[in-house]
Amino acid sequence: MTSLTNAARALCDGHLVVFPTETVYGLGADGLCTSAVEGIFRIKGRPADHPVILHVATIDAAKSLTASWPARAQRLAEVFWPGPLTLILKRASHIPDAVTGGQETVGIRIPAQPVALALLNEFSRMGSGVIAAPSANRFGAVSPTRVIDVQRDLGDRLGPDDCILDGGDCTVGVESTIVDLTGTQPRILRPGGISRDRLIQVMAVEPAADSEILSKDCTTLPPRVSGALQSHYAPNARVMLLNSEECELGLQQLRAASPASSIGCLLMEPLKREPSGQGVTVVVMPSDAQRYAHDLYARLHDLDQLGCRVIVVERPPQSIEWEAVQDRLKRAAADRPNPDHAQ
Ligand code: TXA
Ligand code: MG
Repeated sequence: MTSLTNAARALCDGHLVVFPTETVYGLGADGLCTSAVEGIFRIKGRPADHPVILHVATIDAAKSLTASWPARAQRLAEVFWPGPLTLILKRASHIPDAVTGGQETVGIRIPAQPVALALLNEFSRMGSGVIAAPSANRFGAVSPTRVIDVQRDLGDRLGPDDCILDGGDCTVGVESTIVDLTGTQPRILRPGGISRDRLIQVMAVEPAADSEILSKDCTTLPPRVSGALQSHYAPNARVMLLNSEECELGLQQLRAASPASSIGCLLMEPLKREPSGQGVTVVVMPSDAQRYAHDLYARLHDLDQLGCRVIVVERPPQSIEWEAVQDRLKRAAADRPNPDHAQ
């Protein structure tokens, strides 16, 4: 098992370190070193113009990466950091273009995971203390929330000097909420670990217009947010998102059309009638949105491992606390141009 000191040294030497955060595992590199950050893109197979998030240990370190630090950033940072919130701010000039995808903005967060924070602190002593990290999965695939999923997805792509830190299962299970603070009004670019409700609550101390923006459904996303691509977070299996009343019939039809292939189901309630025949794996998911989010990626990985060709997912409730889960399921179910989307 890699020690924190060895992991921090690997970062100093320009290598990659997979580390746990409370949301998902990250594929980290020294965020101030262009060649190290380029390594992330190579391993992930991610297009070079997609920006990556910078992780730091303190608010002061975050500030030093920005050209301006609005009062709103201070407020959100004080309330939600360490935690699953990424702030998009105007970048400081010393940040490599490889991090920002050539944009004038930078995404920053302080993760709330003891191993991540210990690594950041160690790396602050030994090096820049800034870790650029996307989720530790191949581009377009489901993010890992367990070390085993990282090993399966990226194990054979990592180099001999790269390393993996095991921090157990991620507690949140979906990625951070991304809030863009570079415009006149704050905007949620990606729903995630911090709910829109909580953001509105905290923003409510500010002019009412802000809350309005935050409460709008964010369908017009800016370019170059890879998590905003239609097809993203997708397992190998085809995901079919169905309403509750469609699940049983949908399953029967799939069985009839392709009796030999394995099918997975993520349901809110057990089926009234057990599906006939072999090869159907039914998982009843938690009815609580946070617990569902915690389990979601792990269950998708598990069903992929079982060789499921199709995963039937019962649409969870539409209410606001389910927003991040709804978003990930919609993207997992979106048509993708390349069926095995290995890139
Ligand atoms: O929870 C998380 O955010 C995890 C953990 C590892 O921190 N990271 C993560 O990274 O989800 P990634 O690269 O898979 O997704 C980051 C998202 C991408 O959609 C990226 O385009 C967006 O953040 N992003 C990063 N910097 C940005 C910027 N300057 N402007 C707009 N979007 C940005
Ligand atoms: Mg990702």
